[in-house]
Amino acid sequence: MKRPRLKHAELFGERVKLVPLDPRFADTAFDVLHENEDILRWLVWDGPACREEVADFYCRWIVPSGNGDDYHFAILDVETEAFAGSIGPRFAGHPTTGDVGYWLDPAYWGRGFMTEAVRMVTHLAFRYLDAAVMTAYVFVGNAGSRLVLERNGYRMAHLSKAKVMKGGVAVDEWYFTILRHEFERELGDYKPVREVVELE
Ligand SMILES: CC(C)(COP(=O)(O)OP(=O)(O)OC[C@H]1O[C@@H](n2cnc3c(N)ncnc32)[C@H](O)[C@@H]1OP(=O)(O)O)[C@@H](O)C(=O)NCCC(=O)NCCS
Repeated sequence: MKRPRLKHAELFGERVKLVPLDPRFADTAFDVLHENEDILRWLVWDGPACREEVADFYCRWIVPSGNGDDYHFAILDVETEAFAGSIGPRFAGHPTTGDVGYWLDPAYWGRGFMTEAVRMVTHLAFRYLDAAVMTAYVFVGNAGSRLVLERNGYRMAHLSKAKVMKGGVAVDEWYFTILRHEFERELGDYKPVREVVELE
């Protein structure tokens, strides 16, 4: 069966706006991320080695595969349009199981930005991309990320011992999941303030 694929998407919330990643955000992203342990200590990725690495990655917001696509959005402050971080629902290898990953510039922490970004991406996945389940892996101890997910109806399914290696150390992860009916039950008929979604 042919799976839905995004051609273009922009989601507008009360605090943030999600737009496709674009090279024009790459320099800011590098400046925020490079050797920033406040962010990187919570990611499997160790961050970019050079500006070119980010610029190259930000050229493609869709990473297609024959078996599920990965999408990468920039998170913008809806008032100023400034770049604040990134979020992506990823389906590669599991077309009906989406995995959401994200990071935010610490200058914007604690303002509800990621709670809204995760809500919009989860809505996108269930409403348009036919996701059966949305998931997230969170390093144990990342209380902020856990709250973001729980406020959107995600629940911890299990704890994976020694799931990844970070800096030579085995890290445990919480595995969060949410089904479509759980999202609808928790969030009602949630919709972003405005959305522009084009499918192939
Ligand atoms: C985790 C992260 C995404 C949260 O983004 P955010 O926009 O600040 O989140 P929100 O404001 O929507 O909500 C976070 C909530 O958690 C709380 N919180 C944040 N850090 C916390 C901590 N260490 N302990 C307890 N609560 C915490 C915030 O106060 C906020 O609650 P409040 O609204 O009651 O004040 C952001 O801090 C981040 O990018 N961290 C580094 C990268 C990362 O962890 N990525 C996720 C990997 S799974």
